[in-house]
Order: sequence, then structure tokens, then C-alpha cells
Amino acid sequence: MFCGALSGCHVRHPASADPKSGAHGRSPCICHNTKRGCVFSLSGKRALVVGIANDQSIAWGCARAFHAQGADLAVTYLNDRAEPHVRPLAEQLDASIVAPLDVRDDDQLTAVFDRIRDEWGSLDVLLHSIAFCPKEDLHGRVVDCSREGFGVAMDISVHSFLRMIRLAEPLMERGGTCMTVSFYGSEKVVEHYNVMGPVKAALESVTRYAAAELGPKGISVHALSPGPLSTRAASGIDHFDALLARTAENTPTHQLATIEEVGAYAAFLASREASNVTGTVHPIDGGYHIVG
Ligand SMILES: NC(=O)c1ccc[n+]([C@@H]2O[C@H](COP(=O)([O-])OP(=O)(O)OC[C@H]3O[C@@H](n4cnc5c(N)ncnc54)[C@H](O)[C@@H]3O)[C@@H](O)[C@H]2O)c1
Repeated sequence: MFCGALSGCHVRHPASADPKSGAHGRSPCICHNTKRGCVFSLSGKRALVVGIANDQSIAWGCARAFHAQGADLAVTYLNDRAEPHVRPLAEQLDASIVAPLDVRDDDQLTAVFDRIRDEWGSLDVLLHSIAFCPKEDLHGRVVDCSREGFGVAMDISVHSFLRMIRLAEPLMERGGTCMTVSFYGSEKVVEHYNVMGPVKAALESVTRYAAAELGPKGISVHALSPGPLSTRAASGIDHFDALLARTAENTPTHQLATIEEVGAYAAFLASREASNVTGTVHPIDGGYHIVG
């Protein structure tokens, strides 16, 4: 069902949606529901979302927003243990493709993109919303980080983005959007963020270089940078609750970011209207980055 005949909106919404108020329950409408029509739509676009662990994941906020704006989805889950948590969420969004993906496994990664090529023929949007660092390295000083731990964190959290972009490139002949998710600890020392700071700095640099290299092909590359959010990955960071409290207090809006806000922003970046924006780290943090 579409937003409403009044608006000429092309966006898919649940049948319960109220086109007048724009209240769409679990799939909020991001388009401007006015007589002038949609500001943007992802109708007809195909998006691969990597990084849903549960309904608190940033990737889930993005997947919901992509779906609400009309995109068809491919969703991955880490392993057999993650599947029962992720598959029902993917089904809620009528994802056409649901597949396992541990990015350390090259065959699995190739299989995901082969399936997209075989079933869709093309890809418009790639969201890479994953990170990992072995606990002993994450909890220690940066100067004590082991060679192995540093390598694992860089491989899963950074190089996997490059591998995905490389596989997406031939499927984005009409252009496309690749996004990853970073954090402010990349540029400033954030207590207890430790080695993930340098890892995110590398991720942001990769974003800029990939954007420069793929710009001529109409492929934009972005890093979303939300303020701290309570997710499974965040629970691995020491004293995360204190970071949340400190951030809320010092943020100009005094509001912590939500996965819905990140999703809405990501959906816009995925749209045709944002196609001339690329290579940037986008803070979605209530303005914390200007004062923190
Ligand atoms: N939560 C925050 O405060 C916050 C803030 C800024 C940025 N981020 C970043 O957002 C991204 C998503 O994290 P989140 O906070 O939504 O937590 P999350 O735990 O919901 O998501 C992390 C995802 O990484 C996946 N992952 C880990 N290792 C993997 C591997 N080998 N192969 C494939 N997937 C793997 C997990 O399965 C999970 O789905 C991460 O890059 C994180 O650093 C988080």
C-alpha cells in the first residue's frame, strides 16, 4: 500500500498506515506526506543490509527505513546462532534474500553477491554495519593491542567493507550507494573506546578513498557516524552506560541518537536525490561532534 493518493507517494507502507497523519506504526514514513509528493523514494531499489543482530541493531533501523521507502532487501545473519533472531526480522520486511554471512569466510561473501547477481541482476545500496575486536584487545590500552587482535579488528571492521564494495561494483552499473558505520572515537580519544578508535579512523579513510575511486561510476560512499546507542556491539565496550550518560548531558540537543534517526538519514543517502553527496562522515549525534 502507498502513502496516500493525495500525496502521489510511491512509498510502501503497512495497511494500517494513516496517510493523513503520516503515522505508520513500525515502519514510519520518512517522505514528506504533502500534496507536493515525496521528497525521495527508494522504490525499485535493491539494498543489501549486513549487520542485523537483533531489533536494536543500527542495521535494523536502516533496513526498516529502506523498506518503508520502497526498497527490496537482502539481509544477512552471522551464523546459525544468529539466524533465529535475524530471519523473523527479515521476514517482517519481506526480504527477498536472507543468507548467512561471516565476512571472514570469502566463499560465503562471494555466495551472497552471486545470489544477488542471479536473482536481482543489480544492486543499488550496500550497508556495512559490522565491527568486531577480540575482547582482551578491546579492553586494553591501544599501545598494548596485540598484532593478532589489531589484524582481526581491521579485517572484520574495515577491510570487509572494501571486499563488499569490490563485489558490489559490477552490480552497480547504474550507480549506487555504499555505506558503513563509524564513531566519533575515530577522531577524538573516547575513554574505553580504545583500539576501535584507530580502526574507525581507518574505516573513514577507506570511505574517502573508495568515494574518490568510484565517484566517476556514480557510486557514492559514506560513513554514518551515530552517537552512542545501546546495542549488542556497544555492550562490549567497558563502562558504556557512563558514556551514554556523559554524551546525553553534553550533546547540544540532550538527545541520544536512535536507530530510527540513523535509518532515516541512511535512506536519504541511498536515494537518487543524494547521488551527488559522497566521501563524507555524517554525524547523527545531536551535534555532539561540535562540542565533544
Ligand atoms: N552502538 C553504538 O553506539 C555505535 C555507534 C557508532 C557506530 N557503531 C557501529 O555500528 C555498527 C553496527 O553495530 P551495532 O551497534 O548496531 O551493534 P550490533 O551488535 O547490533 O551489530 C554488529 C553486527 O556486526 C556483526 N558482525 C560481527 N562480526 C562479524 C563477522 N565476522 N561477519 C559478519 N558480521 C559480523 C554482528 O553479527 C552484528 O550483526 C558497528 O560498526 C559499530 O561499530 C555503533
